[in-house]
Amino acid sequence: KAVTLIGVPLEEGSGRGGCAMGPAALRIAGIGSALGELGYRVTDAGDLRPAPATDLGEHPKAHELPVVGAFARAIEDRTYRAAAEGSLPVLLGGDHSLSMGSVSGMARRAAELGRPLFVLWLDAHADFNTPATSPSGNIHGMPVAFYCGKAEFAPILPADRPFVDPRHVYQVGIRSVDDEERLAIAENGVNVFDMRAIDEEGMGAIMRRIIAEVSGANGLLHVSLDVDFLDPDVAPGVGTTVPGGATFREAHLIMEMLHDSGLVSSLDLVELNPFLDDRGKSARVIVELAASLFGRRILDRPTRAA
Ligand code: ARG
Ligand code: MN
Ligand code: MN
Ligand code: MN
Repeated sequence: KAVTLIGVPLEEGSGRGGCAMGPAALRIAGIGSALGELGYRVTDAGDLRPAPATDLGEHPKAHELPVVGAFARAIEDRTYRAAAEGSLPVLLGGDHSLSMGSVSGMARRAAELGRPLFVLWLDAHADFNTPATSPSGNIHGMPVAFYCGKAEFAPILPADRPFVDPRHVYQVGIRSVDDEERLAIAENGVNVFDMRAIDEEGMGAIMRRIIAEVSGANGLLHVSLDVDFLDPDVAPGVGTTVPGGATFREAHLIMEMLHDSGLVSSLDLVELNPFLDDRGKSARVIVELAASLFGRRILDRPTRAA
């Protein structure tokens, strides 16, 4: 059991400062030792610091494209290599635009293995904008469209790379979607479990369905955890808080069920903004949840997943 921590001090996709301090905060909160204590061989690959991509010009509706694009390339490569070496990549963000690289890297690895890649997107937002639809121009609102091949706005990664089938994307916790984005996720068949679905059906039932579908397809499962998935009371350290988010108990249940499933191939921890946090509270919650995903348990028995 090996894990590779990949620091991504990227904030240019978010339109404000602070997320670049995320990797440092997650390390201080003990991400490495938490996973080490669970028996993993943990390699910290340090922080990626690519120079801006001079071949990518400024884009009027995709802010900081040369910076975000350079990160996407470096992340795609580093994530792919960690996975190909048999280690489980854990991306320490960094804003959510980093998933353009991490998910694309895992899509390359999955294609090589001949297995489908599924994505569990835990977020208040669908992040399915394109430069044409984005109200903000911030690239962290676009990564899902990008890795599904629906936002080819610049030659960031090879145009013939493997894309993720949008029907293999499960979005859970959604409660803020822009108008054109709403049409796009419906048209592309993204599986959306918004907060209403969670309240009506319960998190356990939703996760059982998702896990059964991924498992039935022999898929790899990439998990992308945006801090704003959680309720702002639980995790205030994020620039895009939306009220009515997941409770700690709901998030914890997800992590325990994911661990028991054995399906998780890779993980993003994103959007932590330590500048906005309350004495490290959100960083600690994220490390706590990651530890549960990697097998920390309360009782000596698995959660009843079936
Ligand atoms: N939908 C909004 C936008 O496109 C907000 C996106 C927030 N994304 C995030 N990863 N926090 O700008
Ligand atoms: Mn997000
Ligand atoms: Mn979000
Ligand atoms: Mn399928």
